[in-house]
Amino acid sequence: MAGTFETVGVVGLGTMGAGIAEVFARAGLTVIGVEADPAALERGRGHLEGSTGRALARGKLTEAERAEILGRVSFTTSLEDLADADLVIEAIPEVMDYKRALFTDLDRVCKPSAVLATNTSSLSVTAIAATTTRPGRVIGMHFFNPAPVMKLVEVVRTVTTDDGLAGEVADLARRLGKTPVTVGDRAGFVVNRLLLAYLNHAAALLENGLAGRDDIDAAMKLGAGFPMGPFALLDLIGLDTSYEICEVLFRETRDRRHAPAPILRELVTAGRLGRKSGEGFHCAEEPQSPSPHEKPSAASVAVLGEGAEEFSARLSGAGFKIVDPEGAELVLALSHTPVVERAVRLPHPDRLVGLHLVGDQVAEVASTVLTSPDTARVAHGLLRILGRTPVPCKDRAEFVVDALLYPYLNDAVRMYESGYASIEDIDTAMKLGCGYPAGPFETLDRLGLETVRDGLRALYAEYREPSFAPAPLLDQLVTAGVRSIRDLTP
Ligand SMILES: NC(=O)c1ccc[n+]([C@@H]2O[C@H](COP(=O)([O-])OP(=O)(O)OC[C@H]3O[C@@H](n4cnc5c(N)ncnc54)[C@H](O)[C@@H]3O)[C@@H](O)[C@H]2O)c1
Repeated sequence: MAGTFETVGVVGLGTMGAGIAEVFARAGLTVIGVEADPAALERGRGHLEGSTGRALARGKLTEAERAEILGRVSFTTSLEDLADADLVIEAIPEVMDYKRALFTDLDRVCKPSAVLATNTSSLSVTAIAATTTRPGRVIGMHFFNPAPVMKLVEVVRTVTTDDGLAGEVADLARRLGKTPVTVGDRAGFVVNRLLLAYLNHAAALLENGLAGRDDIDAAMKLGAGFPMGPFALLDLIGLDTSYEICEVLFRETRDRRHAPAPILRELVTAGRLGRKSGEGFHCAEEPQSPSPHEKPSAASVAVLGEGAEEFSARLSGAGFKIVDPEGAELVLALSHTPVVERAVRLPHPDRLVGLHLVGDQVAEVASTVLTSPDTARVAHGLLRILGRTPVPCKDRAEFVVDALLYPYLNDAVRMYESGYASIEDIDTAMKLGCGYPAGPFETLDRLGLETVRDGLRALYAEYREPSFAPAPLLDQLVTAGVRSIRDLTP
C-alpha cells in the first residue's frame, strides 16, 4: 500500500522539513518542498545539496545517484503546487494557530485522496484534523532530529483517522528505512511525554539546588549511560520548544511535573534558547571547567553501610588507612537515602558524607547540612583517585541519578498500564528516538523491579509528589514476585 505514495509535499524547510525532504528523496519519492520564506527555501535547498555532497565525498553516493536525488526535489513558495501530491507533511513551527491555518489551506489545495500529515512534537493531531473536511486522511508522522539519521517515526492516529491509514503510513515509514511506532493522539506521544517530564524534572532539581548543572549532566551521562546530560539535551532541542512542549503536556495532564520549570521561562524570556541562540543552560564559548584535582589530605577513612567491607578494601589498596568512624578524618556512609541521621550519631558529624556509587564511573557525594566544605573536598579528591567522577549533591532521597531515573521509569510503566503503548513500542521509541542504550523496561529489568519500587517510595516520602508513588502495576509485580516486566503478555 505504501506504493500509493509517490509524490509527497513537505511544507516548511527548516530544521526538520529539510531533513524530511531528503529522507523522501533518498527513498525514491518525488518531493515538492514548500517554504513561506524565500531565504529559508534557499537554506533548505542548500541543506539538500550540502548533505548529498558530503555523502558523495564519503563515497556513500555516486555522482549519478546524487543527481537523481536532487532531480526528484523541486522547491516552491506556492502551496498550489501541491495539487497532485499523494501525501503532504508539514514541518512549520509548533504553534497551533499556524498549523490549523495551514491545514485549512492544504485541504483546499490538495486532491481529496491526499493524506495530510503533521510532524508536530506535541500538539493535538485531532485538533489539526478538525480544521479540514477530511479528518479521516489526517495523521501524525513525527520524525526525530536529525531526520536523515534518527530511525524512529511516531505514527499518530486519531479517533477520526480512516481504518488502515496508520498501517499505510507505517509502511511508508519502513520504505524510508525508518522504524514506525503507531500510537494514539496524546500530548507528547511516547517519546516527548517521557523525555520532557525527565528534562523538566532535572531543571526543577537544579533550581532547588540539589546539584549543579554540570554535575547533573555528568551524572546522567556517565551514571545512567544517556548520550548526553539533560541540560545539554535541552539546549539541543531548544529551550523555547521544550517550554512549549511542557506547556502542552501540562494542559493535558495537569501533572505539575509537566509545568515548565520557572528557570526555563526565565531563560527563554532572556533569549537564551540553547544552541540555536548560542546560549542556553550552557554557553557555546564557556570553557569545559576542568574539575579541581584536590589531593585528599585525610589519611584515615571510615566506611559505613552496605558494602562497607568491600569498599574499605579498595581504599586500603589505594593507600588509605581504614579506622573506626569515631576516629576517622573522613566518614563515608554508603547509601542512596539521606545520611544525616548517621551523622548526628557521630562525635564529629561534620566529617560524614553520603556516598552512592553509580555504575563504574560516578560517585554521588551527598553533603548534609552538617558536612564541612573541607570534608566534601577531601571526599571528592579521594573518589577521583579511585577513578570516579564525584557528583556533589544535597542529602536527599535517591540523590541525583535515581531521583531522575526512577520517575521516568515509573512514567513508562504508567504509560503501558494505561494501554497507550506496548512495552516493546515504548522501549523501541526511547532507544530510536533518544539514542538511549536501553529502553525503560529493559532498564527496569536490569535494575530490578523491587529496587525501583522501593526507590520510588523513598522519593514519594521525601518530596510528597503524587506521581512519584510507584505505579500500581509495578507494586503488584513486586508483590507477585515477577522479575521481568517484559515477560508480561502485551
Ligand atoms: N526541532 C526539532 O528537534 C524537532 C523534532 C521533531 C519534531 N519537530 C517539529 O517539527 C516542526 C518544525 O520544527 P523545526 O524545528 O523544523 O522548525 P523551524 O523553525 O526550524 O522551521 C520551520 C520552517 O517553517 C517555515 N514556515 C513557517 N510557516 C510556514 C508556512 N505557513 N508555510 C511554509 N513554510 C512555513 C519557516 O520559514 C521555517 O523555515 C514543529 O512542529 C516541531 O515541533 C521539531
